[in-house]
Amino acid sequence: MKILNLKISLQDNKKVKMYLYYLLMPLFLLITSKLSITPDMSWISAYILIGGANSIAFSWINGHVKLFKIHKEYFWTYTFILLLTSILIPIEYRLFGLYGLPVFFGVLAVTALMGRETGITAAITLSTIASVVSNGNFEIFAMYAIGSIGSISLTKSFDKRIDFSKAALWNSLISIAMLFTMRFGFSPFELRAKSLFLVGINPFASMFLSLGVLPYIEYVSRIYSNIGLIELGNLGHPLLKQLLVKAPGTYFHSVMLSNMCESAAQRIGANYVLSRIGPYFHDIGKIKRPEFFSENQQGVNPHDSISPMMNYLIVASHVKYGEELSRSFRLPLLVEDMIKEHHGTRMVSFFYQKALSENLKVSPDDFRYSGPTPRTKEAGITMLADSCEAAVRSLKSPSLYKIQNMVEDVVNKIYNERQLDDSSLTLRDTDQIVEEFSKVLFAMHKKRIEYPKTTEEVEKVIKVAKM
Ligand SMILES: [Fe+2]
Ligand SMILES: [Fe+2]
Repeated sequence: MKILNLKISLQDNKKVKMYLYYLLMPLFLLITSKLSITPDMSWISAYILIGGANSIAFSWINGHVKLFKIHKEYFWTYTFILLLTSILIPIEYRLFGLYGLPVFFGVLAVTALMGRETGITAAITLSTIASVVSNGNFEIFAMYAIGSIGSISLTKSFDKRIDFSKAALWNSLISIAMLFTMRFGFSPFELRAKSLFLVGINPFASMFLSLGVLPYIEYVSRIYSNIGLIELGNLGHPLLKQLLVKAPGTYFHSVMLSNMCESAAQRIGANYVLSRIGPYFHDIGKIKRPEFFSENQQGVNPHDSISPMMNYLIVASHVKYGEELSRSFRLPLLVEDMIKEHHGTRMVSFFYQKALSENLKVSPDDFRYSGPTPRTKEAGITMLADSCEAAVRSLKSPSLYKIQNMVEDVVNKIYNERQLDDSSLTLRDTDQIVEEFSKVLFAMHKKRIEYPKTTEEVEKVIKVAKM
């Protein structure tokens, strides 16, 4: 019944999106572009142009960008940025003319939050609006589209503020070169100089605007750029401070995981910033009842005095509580996913076996985590790292060979349980992940490190790790 309801609501949501994208949004974009004075172009041709570009972009996103299917916030945020840019277009047109339109503002904001490919679709829609503003001038479309797409393609990553500056510089150079070749020789010198100046400075103005607006969009949408993620992962977050004090063993485990996931993500080409920051928070729910988790126990095991079912409920509740915390602290959506998905729908087999040994009538499904299974590569890596780290910790004298065998067994087991089906991880990816995990775990276990039990011990280990 639940599945049926979910399907119906998803279909409704899809219909709303369709109406919005194919009908209302082109109409809105048309009105805002018409406000920029276009006496020659008819409304119908402008509508066809903008509607066509917008529909093609939307269909492509719908088919190719998985995150738009997972979180509705991606759709709304993308739409909001496009509408905001289209509102700014007539204002800037009246202030600066055709060469001062803020197309790059929208493109940069979408790229930083949702990736390069989605940024390219935004560039096509927004450049079409710019061309409508200029009475269907193809040169204007080409200048904005090639300037924006070229610059974000030439910028390797958007992890630092300097990357934004580099992208603006590329855009400025490309746009000047294009204007120079397209218009040179046709206009009087003063006009050329003014146009070249505007075209050169416009990408920088757009960059400043997008850097200023991004933190607000991140807070409201919980979709974070890599810059926002890096700020979040400086270990000064109040939740991480609480974790360090209340559950030092879990804190140390999370730092280990962060190293493993970052290196694996880098190897397979996933988002390594998200893979470094997300694992810090994956077990944040353990700050409630930390003594029930082996890494924080000092001799006394509170599990011994209660029933297997109750034990299972307590252990599984760290996922639900972590989810609640991530909502109330407005952690990024993708970090919340890692919290929810790092155990997938796996079974807490220890307590299931214990229940069987006590002759209780139980089924494996009574002892499963609530899931869902990982839906992104980064969440899949976190799930694998979590189990591998725990398994390797139990090895008596870990050699590289033993570690690699153990990691391979764990990864194969999870793969065969079909927990990675929705994660987009391929077999080739998992092979490379095994290699990276083994390297990192071996480096960490070279000198057998005892799990630190106090805050001071953890701080000592982190200090050594930073050296
Ligand atoms: Fe966990
Ligand atoms: Fe964990």
